[in-house]
Amino acid sequence: MRILSGIQPSGRLHVGNFFGMMQPSIRLQEEGEAFYFIADYHSLTTVQDPEALRKNVCNVAIDFLACGLDPNKAVFFKQSDVPEVTELSWLLSTVTPMGFLNRCHSYKDKTERGLEATHGLFAYPVLMAADILIYDSNVVPVGDDQKQHVEVTRDIAIKFNNLYGDVFVIPEPRIREDKARVPGLDGQKMSKSYGNILEIFGEEKPTKKKIMSMMTDSTPVEDPKDPSNSIIIDLFSLVASDQQLQEMKDDFLKGGTGYGDFKKRLFEAFWEFFKPMRAKRKELSEDPQYIENILKEGADRAREAASATLKRARHSCGITS
Ligand code: ADP
Ligand code: TRP
Repeated sequence: MRILSGIQPSGRLHVGNFFGMMQPSIRLQEEGEAFYFIADYHSLTTVQDPEALRKNVCNVAIDFLACGLDPNKAVFFKQSDVPEVTELSWLLSTVTPMGFLNRCHSYKDKTERGLEATHGLFAYPVLMAADILIYDSNVVPVGDDQKQHVEVTRDIAIKFNNLYGDVFVIPEPRIREDKARVPGLDGQKMSKSYGNILEIFGEEKPTKKKIMSMMTDSTPVEDPKDPSNSIIIDLFSLVASDQQLQEMKDDFLKGGTGYGDFKKRLFEAFWEFFKPMRAKRKELSEDPQYIENILKEGADRAREAASATLKRARHSCGITS
């Protein structure tokens, strides 16, 4: 089984990215041949500051490795180190009906938020389809919001195969059911574009401050509180043990404990959960050459796989004999 996923280097990683995409990807590296990459071409649709982009690529590489990506098990590389993918993207675009792209809500969301309506932003799903198809991927672990893009990929692959023969493997999205949509500090989906994120590797003080200033309702300390409708509980459930979670739920129902106290417990569990990853991150940050070597080695392996698929695709549509 070939597993593939990508993450854009477009900012600091947050808890939603971790539980929605990274943790499932890291678990899957035990089950098959995993290919994970940093989608720098994609991030050019939103990050147009070269220095920031370079820094983000470096940070996301360190973050992913610190969170458990094992370069001995998974091929880890930068999207742009495999330029074959942009050529495949063109071949795919020639069979992609506008309707496939018109229905994508990510484009609508982004332009409604004020991003310029560029061709790159509109054609984003075609490049993503090329990413997935060029590695003959079977399974694509992503968060809920990327499911539609994987479905469009399937539709494009089926269309291409119907026209030109059996060129592409048809991939499937793998969305975890339990943590597919992590809420942000304001209760909306956690996303860097909503300014409601909890960074995985933020500094201690600002992280604590963010948690302590989460909005809550005005139930008095002594009154019982509703655990089924609380962002504190939702976030706590991601990082606490079952026992800690049960205790917090009981304390909600009992009354007598204020939200401030629950937030403190949330911060402590959060800080503890990411402790080993913070230590690993520190170690990795001290060795940029190691990171560079991993990405270089990954790119060589990825390129080998990609060029074989591209060759097949070029031949099938008559570009090469
Ligand atoms: P953002 O919404 O902050 O811009 P990205 O779109 O870069 O995040 O998402 C990177 C990966 O993390 C994707 O696979 C996405 O589905 C996943 N992801 C992002 N936010 C969440 C969330 N709140 N809950 C679960 N998964 C998420
Ligand atoms: N669009 C994805 C995101 O924003 C990143 C991505 C690019 C990706 N290409 C991919 C994810 C291929 C999975 C497979 O998160």
